[in-house]
Amino acid sequence: MNKPVYVDNNATTAVAPEVTEAMLPFFTEHWGNPSSMHVFGGGLKKHIDTAREQVAVLLGAEHPNEIIFTSCGSESDNMAIRGVVDAMGGHPHIITTRVEHAAVLGPAHYLEDKGFRLSTLEVDEQGRLDLNQVRELSLTGKTTVASVMWANNETGVIFPVPEIGIIIKGSGGIFHTDAVQVAGKLPISVQDIPIDSLSISGHKLHAPKGIGALYVRRGTKIAPHIMGGHQERGRRAGTENVPYIVGLGKACELAMQRMAADAAKESRLRDRL
Ligand SMILES: Cc1ncc(COP(=O)(O)O)c(C=O)c1O
Repeated sequence: MNKPVYVDNNATTAVAPEVTEAMLPFFTEHWGNPSSMHVFGGGLKKHIDTAREQVAVLLGAEHPNEIIFTSCGSESDNMAIRGVVDAMGGHPHIITTRVEHAAVLGPAHYLEDKGFRLSTLEVDEQGRLDLNQVRELSLTGKTTVASVMWANNETGVIFPVPEIGIIIKGSGGIFHTDAVQVAGKLPISVQDIPIDSLSISGHKLHAPKGIGALYVRRGTKIAPHIMGGHQERGRRAGTENVPYIVGLGKACELAMQRMAADAAKESRLRDRL
């Protein structure tokens, strides 16, 4: 039988050998709890800090503290929507698109069931958004919380996130983008685009499944959805998953180094196919 060829990296990617290698010592030698005061935990914070910096560099964040580690892209999306709505109080108008991942549509419909107004933007037959729809919706007078993906996981269509950000932020709203399919594939500079939060997922960029991150711009209020300890500066409780955090950091570092060459190679392969 012919060897199968894997062409589904939008579903998941293989863990890079360099990532596995970076993670292994945190299973075998440095397995302590980063919150412990003794020698087994003490040194671990600096590895988490390094990973936070590596993620911040990939996203072009101004400060590593704007990065919150989560368990996956779905958690990042849920937190970005529900955490912001909780922190705002009141009943903001939620805006999203019909073609979002279920990790965005799930919390959006949950809030709709709770009585929030939800507007779902349509796309045309090419999968593209009409910016006029966004403009009209942002002018309804109510504060908006908008979540629009950067690139679609099925069609590959890239939405004009900077332009949407200008519209939403210009009307005083809060703007989240699901960049799970963009991180590691296209350059991102959150400092240069008007967004408040951005989700990524490790397993789409050669880190393992079960680790993600949420960028939250400094000053954006977000309520923790997992309450407990003071990890992640009180924004997401739970003992840090040190090996996976280290793995995500390494994957982001590799993506920075390889993004341009990978894109050129994959474009060539796509065109040949
Ligand atoms: C666009 C998009 N958002 C969110 C997710 C969810 O990420 P995770 O599998 O890490 O929960 C995916 C994964 O398929 C995705 O493609």
